[in-house]
Amino acid sequence: MYNIPGSGSSPQPAPVAEGESVEAVRKARTVAEVMAQSQAGDVLDELDRELVGLAPVKARIRDIAALLVIDRLRMNQGLQAQTPSLHMSFTGNPGTGKTTVALRMAQILHRLGYIRKGHLVAVTRDDLVGQYVGHTAPKTREVLKKAMGGVLFIDEAYYLYRPDNERDYGQEAIEILLQVMENNRDDLVVILAGYGDRMETFFQSNPGMRSRIAHHLEFPDFTEGELLRIAEMMLEQQNYRFAPGARDVFQEYIAHRLRQPQFANARSVRNALDRARLRQASRLFANPDKELTVDDLSTIESPDIRASRVFDLGTASAQKT
Ligand SMILES: Nc1ncnc2c1ncn2[C@@H]1O[C@H](COP(=O)(O)OP(=O)(O)OP(=O)(O)O)[C@@H](O)[C@H]1O
Ligand SMILES: [Mg+2]
Repeated sequence: MYNIPGSGSSPQPAPVAEGESVEAVRKARTVAEVMAQSQAGDVLDELDRELVGLAPVKARIRDIAALLVIDRLRMNQGLQAQTPSLHMSFTGNPGTGKTTVALRMAQILHRLGYIRKGHLVAVTRDDLVGQYVGHTAPKTREVLKKAMGGVLFIDEAYYLYRPDNERDYGQEAIEILLQVMENNRDDLVVILAGYGDRMETFFQSNPGMRSRIAHHLEFPDFTEGELLRIAEMMLEQQNYRFAPGARDVFQEYIAHRLRQPQFANARSVRNALDRARLRQASRLFANPDKELTVDDLSTIESPDIRASRVFDLGTASAQKT
């Protein structure tokens, strides 16, 4: 389990100041006022700017934000009482940005005043389900307690349900979750994440869970062009860049890697760049007397990528990347 604090951590914009701006949001009468005063607009713009591709996901998030802003304006005019259900499912292949988007979602929900804290608690089955009789309920409740006021992100949520074992303790965790998702929906947003087909099977066996999920977001695989752009953004964030030829070699790398086992979209790109940096370091290290310029230190050259095993197509080592 890991716990990511609310919008306070560094590359993220400052959290909404309690007091003044919360008060201003409550007085707002226009969409622009809510967006500006809550700073939710900033998070949406950042999402557009900093995340490559994901057009359908971004569109759904804007829809959800629109719903929340209008709800806020309705509330400000005394129109409604019930909190909308905000539980979600994020489905897609590994490395398609589910965890990253969940973090942004937590910020948006916090800024619009739907959750108190805006932190995200990420868990898997093992964090919720115990090994012995009586262990599951306290474990699940402990996690829920930590997540209150924020987002509970359950990765590979379908592992909670094991149809082959009627007495599996996962069922107990599911039942507690269902209860809390219903009763505490003004203070906790649950996001179930995982592969689309497995999630569908899970929902078929757990209609109670499906009925509590209001928003289903599907994360598409990235195209080769998007993966290349993601690579360039990742390098830039770390003050590295491709030498002119290296960009083309990386493009080739992507085309190969995509067709090999255990491909994990943006995560594979990140891993490939980590290895390229290792090779760059070894290359520079091999010349101990050379004076190294900023350029030398920040440039990934073609051989740093070309040395990857991904290029040894057809050999058994191909999948080692
Ligand atoms: N659209 C994007 N643009 C730029 N970088 C991205 C994008 N999506 C993901 N990343 C980066 O790719 C990496 C993997 O993303 P993330 O962990 O969110 O994927 P995931 O879908 O949760 O993967 P998994 O299923 O493996 O948990 C992270 O380093 C993230 O910063
Ligand atoms: Mg993830």
